[in-house]
Amino acid sequence: MQTAATVKALRSITAKARQDGLTIGFVPTMGNLHDGHLKLVRQARNTCDFVIVSIFVNPLQFGPNEDLAAYPRTLAADKEKLFAEGTNLLFAPSVDEMYPGNPNLQTQVTVPEISNTLCGAVRPGHFTGVATVVSKLFNMVQPDTAIFGKKDFQQLLVIRRMVNDLSMPIEIVGVDTARSDDGLALSSRNGYLNSHQRTIAPRLHKILQDYRGALASGFDNYAELEHLATADLYAAGFRPDYFSIKDASTLAEVTPETEEVVILTAAMLGNTRLIDNVTLALNPVSDWGMLAVN
Ligand code: PAF
Repeated sequence: MQTAATVKALRSITAKARQDGLTIGFVPTMGNLHDGHLKLVRQARNTCDFVIVSIFVNPLQFGPNEDLAAYPRTLAADKEKLFAEGTNLLFAPSVDEMYPGNPNLQTQVTVPEISNTLCGAVRPGHFTGVATVVSKLFNMVQPDTAIFGKKDFQQLLVIRRMVNDLSMPIEIVGVDTARSDDGLALSSRNGYLNSHQRTIAPRLHKILQDYRGALASGFDNYAELEHLATADLYAAGFRPDYFSIKDASTLAEVTPETEEVVILTAAMLGNTRLIDNVTLALNPVSDWGMLAVN
């Protein structure tokens, strides 16, 4: 596995890969890699010839009172995991390399409509930070395909929209959320949970599944479901930021034209913010006059 810490070194390696006719798959990460990340690397490996993973804890996407300083940095262990997965190149730039002239960054990428709701409403500027760093990384790496986890569902939609609006020639692939046996979505922030909180945390997914079941059985008063689920989250020990049922392709309200819904939640457990989501395909009313559900 090669490593590059500068854009210049990265570009000379990718130029050679392209000269050799290799397709480039890219997995952007903030490190502290777990099986969820490695699943993305495997997806890249399966679909592309040359796999690049970046590790960069992006200050631009953290709010002033968030966990930028405490965010786990485990580069040596991450390198071993990436090597074992057959990664071709690790790009691990410094903050100065990514943001020369920092903090005087004048140009930012904003995808306002999808960004200002849900997590974006609670974390102002977060998705602008994500879209800006991802577009910079895309310009540096110039991948054919980039892989993102569906756990960060809103992030995935922001990136898809950015790539579409800015005509970036990159295929964006979303990969299903990796979970522990008890259903908890894998996340670098799970490491902040104490042992008691760790026993509560899987309830987040359980509650999502319960309400997915209610939707699947035809209950379609979304406001009522959101209200009941929020109460369930409080009862389980969470402090929810939101529990919301949306159109999965736009994050707008569900309409009769909606083909797939997504149920998303973000909730604090102690000082740890957890997010998760589940989706449900809604088929058009069938010949039998029934709402068919996948
Ligand atoms: O999902 C993440 O880890 C980050 O938001 C990303 C996409 C690497 C951008 O910093």
